[in-house]
Amino acid sequence: MSEETWEAAGQESRRGFLNAALGFFTLAVTVGVMSPVGMFLWPRGQKTAAGRATAMKLPLAEVPVGEAKFFRFLNKPAVVIRPNEQEAVALSAVCTHLGCIVKWSESKGEFDCPCHGGRFDAKGAVLGGPPPKPLTAYAARIEDEYLVIEEA
Ligand code: FES
Repeated sequence: MSEETWEAAGQESRRGFLNAALGFFTLAVTVGVMSPVGMFLWPRGQKTAAGRATAMKLPLAEVPVGEAKFFRFLNKPAVVIRPNEQEAVALSAVCTHLGCIVKWSESKGEFDCPCHGGRFDAKGAVLGGPPPKPLTAYAARIEDEYLVIEEA
């Protein structure tokens, strides 16, 4: 084989390798981007005939006592807290004033709305500020090693 033929074969081999690497990279990026989108669009849990989740389970280990875990439920932001080992409280995280997302203040033991200073207690009752009504409550119970949250 002549030197030019060897060189051409080497270039063809490099081109094939680069095409395969580019294809693999494109596939990895596509899967990496689409997985979270898919999990957002199709959350774990039971669904109604209309396709909306009405119940879901969270591993208990994901919600330590005294801490809050934010998640999406009924296609809206929601939060669950465990005041103690036996109890769980699940609420909509959407402020009842103008719809901002509340934040949990562990030090104060209450939800604070960053928009206009609304405050809610750990069960969603209004403590102060402009919110006209409590946070929407969901049914929550501890079942084995899971928190089960259902539409109330
Ligand atoms: S939106 Fe929460 S206090 Fe206004």
